Amino acid sequence: MALMKGGFIFTALIIGCMTAATTGTMVGNSTVNATLGQSVTLPCVYNPNAPLDKHSMRIYWQYQAGKDPIAMKMYNKGVMEMGTHINKKYQDKAKVAVEELEKGNFNLTLDAVEHSDQGTYQTVFMYNDKKVLECTNWVHVGAEFSKPEVSVVSCVTSVEKVKEVEVTCRTRGGFPRPSIRWSSGNCSADQEADDKIKESSQNKTFVVRSRLTVNASVGQKYTCSIFNPTLGTTQENSVTVLQCLVPKPFPTTICVIMVAVVVVAAMLFVFFACRKKNANRPREGTTAAAASAAGYDLETQKLQGNGNYGNHTDEHDSKIL
Ligand SMILES: *[C@@H]1O[C@H](CO)[C@@H](O)[C@H](O)[C@H]1NC(C)=O
Ligand SMILES: *[C@@H]1O[C@H](CO)[C@@H](O)[C@H](O)[C@H]1NC(C)=O
Ligand SMILES: *[C@@H]1O[C@H](CO)[C@@H](O)[C@H](O)[C@H]1NC(C)=O
Ligand SMILES: *[C@@H]1O[C@H](CO)[C@@H](O)[C@H](O)[C@H]1NC(C)=O
Ligand SMILES: *[C@@H]1O[C@H](CO)[C@@H](O)[C@H](O)[C@H]1NC(C)=O
Ligand SMILES: *[C@@H]1O[C@H](CO)[C@@H](O)[C@H](O)[C@H]1NC(C)=O
Repeated sequence: MALMKGGFIFTALIIGCMTAATTGTMVGNSTVNATLGQSVTLPCVYNPNAPLDKHSMRIYWQYQAGKDPIAMKMYNKGVMEMGTHINKKYQDKAKVAVEELEKGNFNLTLDAVEHSDQGTYQTVFMYNDKKVLECTNWVHVGAEFSKPEVSVVSCVTSVEKVKEVEVTCRTRGGFPRPSIRWSSGNCSADQEADDKIKESSQNKTFVVRSRLTVNASVGQKYTCSIFNPTLGTTQENSVTVLQCLVPKPFPTTICVIMVAVVVVAAMLFVFFACRKKNANRPREGTTAAAASAAGYDLETQKLQGNGNYGNHTDEHDSKIL
């Protein structure tokens, strides 16, 4: 009885050992969306029932964009191979944790993702020269768009009024081509936006400008949403239509004070100018013409000054508009 039981356990052990390395759960075959400039991990995990013997292991990682696969890394019987068949580009760019391989973690990390890293990656694990696991990762590259700047270049004069205004949304730095959505409150805008999407020459990212013309009233909020189809993320921002500021009449007391200051300053200037002239050239004297010329100049300066002030207020108002 005891002998039989021992034999059964022994048999079970042998069978267990034989299947240990070739059964187990696997993780692989996935779509991975990577962010431009950052690193990304391509998962490939094998959970063996018993520890793996590194002398029986062979793993290779390869990349396929065109026809022929490119060898990135190769692990053979306990060592990472550095042969000429391994592509130089991936020596530093691609990383695997060597000490983790015996535990079945064949994850590969790619640093500083570029557009050219988009493609198919394969990890093949062989145990005692038999293929045990093959992981395929499809890598898509995307870049996040900047938070959009949303602006409205107009205002509405009164709360009851409706006015046609132009709302603009700008963003950049993202990839691939985004989809743009406008909404107001819970409703998406039914008007057609005028979109301009340009590819930057340096790094293939996109510069986006979208313009929406709407009949808006005061307090209406417009939201611009930029959706990145690869990263699955949305960047958005809003603007609210404002009521125009009514230009305030310029306070008369300040006007009077300013005119008085200018007049006094002008008088003092003329006074000192005359004295200086008299002192420098006592013989020539001061002609009435010279004095009045100085006075005339001051007068024009003063007028120009006032004119500028008026323009400035106008400009200020139109900006708020
Ligand atoms: C991944 O897909 C390949 C076929 O494309 C298949 O042979 C392999 O078993 C799959 N691996 C996993 C871990 O699902
Ligand atoms: C392998 O990479 C995947 C994806 O980043 C991660 O979820 C997983 O935890 C990694 N596995 C191990 C064992 O580190
Ligand atoms: C791409 O280039 C644009 C300028 O054209 C720059 O603003 C952006 O930061 C760059 N993005 C990356 C990821 O290098
Ligand atoms: C928008 O929708 C949410 C729920 O979907 C609702 O609670 C909210 O009142 C709505 N807002 C407006 C302005 O219609
Ligand atoms: C705004 O309203 C006016 C008058 O009803 C109309 O002619 C115009 O097409 C409208 N504009 C938009 C963008 O809906
Ligand atoms: C990854 O990118 C693909 C293709 O661009 C897309 O279909 C998928 O939804 C993305 N996955 C996630 C999780 O965002």
